[in-house]
Amino acid sequence: MTARSLTQGRSYGEGEHPVKPRLEVNIGGLELKNPVMVASGTFGYGDEFADYVDINKLGAVVTKTITKSRRQGTRPPRVYETAAGMLNAIGLQNNGLQDFIDNKIGKYKNLKTKLIVSVGGETNEEYADIVSALSAYKEVSAFELNISCPNIEYKDKIIACDEGLTLRLVKEVRRATRLPLIVKLSPNVTDIAQIAQAAQEGGADAVSLVNTLLGMAIDVKSRKSVLGNITGGLSGPAIKPVALRMVWQVHNRINLPIIGMGGIMNARDAVEFMIAGASAVAVGTANFVEPKTSLEVLEGISDYLCEHRFKTASELVGSLNVS
Ligand SMILES: Cc1cc2nc3c(=O)[nH]c(=O)nc-3n(C[C@H](O)[C@H](O)[C@H](O)COP(=O)(O)O)c2cc1C
Repeated sequence: MTARSLTQGRSYGEGEHPVKPRLEVNIGGLELKNPVMVASGTFGYGDEFADYVDINKLGAVVTKTITKSRRQGTRPPRVYETAAGMLNAIGLQNNGLQDFIDNKIGKYKNLKTKLIVSVGGETNEEYADIVSALSAYKEVSAFELNISCPNIEYKDKIIACDEGLTLRLVKEVRRATRLPLIVKLSPNVTDIAQIAQAAQEGGADAVSLVNTLLGMAIDVKSRKSVLGNITGGLSGPAIKPVALRMVWQVHNRINLPIIGMGGIMNARDAVEFMIAGASAVAVGTANFVEPKTSLEVLEGISDYLCEHRFKTASELVGSLNVS
């Protein structure tokens, strides 16, 4: 199937010229100049990539997840390449909230794109405290609540694998900020739309999906797991069909904008996510292969919209032809 055949009824007559499409999207009150962002944890804090990528061209930069206190992360080895993706178990290593305030936030002073801070925690209060503290900084445009890290357990559970925990956490964090709240969902569930509904009920402005799929790989010589944490999160092309299906299911069940991710390696992948219902997309693992992927994806989306005569990026969202 060609990319063109994914949309129908858009052939224009001779002499009609495609207009440059409008790329702006609104993600639950967060105005982005275009729908392409980078996924949390795959782009550092943004500044590390500044020599390779003009990050100001992106719709938004999402930071690595920060927690209230410093976290050492998991036992190495922490990453492993698989047949069609990558396993990681970083365990949210980061220097904590105060270090972010003292040493990182100032670096975003001249940022010409939106900054979304990814937030993690071990209790609802921790999430709320971080969000409350960072809401005071004009550099911060929105928060993404990472409630879906497969390498961190919260009271023996991944929050995003439990409807009740998700609802309660989002409700509590909602009270701590007026900035847009994006809730990041886990693919390690039977019915992701149910969890998305709980996030919506709790007061989320948008959802992002998916985080990594729990997986493992074994070194048969040593009979040890290739990861120090034994299990890890699978990302990259291997998970794209699963992520895409989940975006489609969530799009059909809730009314919030979706940020789609999971194996986006090029513009065509991103266009698939938008057709399935994602208002914006995030590039993750591909940043490790080619740091400029997100900008290539942006250019490719624009070309696709132009070629298929879409006037705005939003028109493409959820345009799956199911006839
Ligand atoms: C090395 C690595 C580190 C990650 N760290 C985080 C993180 O700190 N917070 C988070 O919400 N997601 C984290 N993720 C998940 C990604 O943001 C993304 O949801 C997932 O990898 C799926 O997208 P992809 O297949 O394009 O990588 C991480 C992924 C990788 C590969």
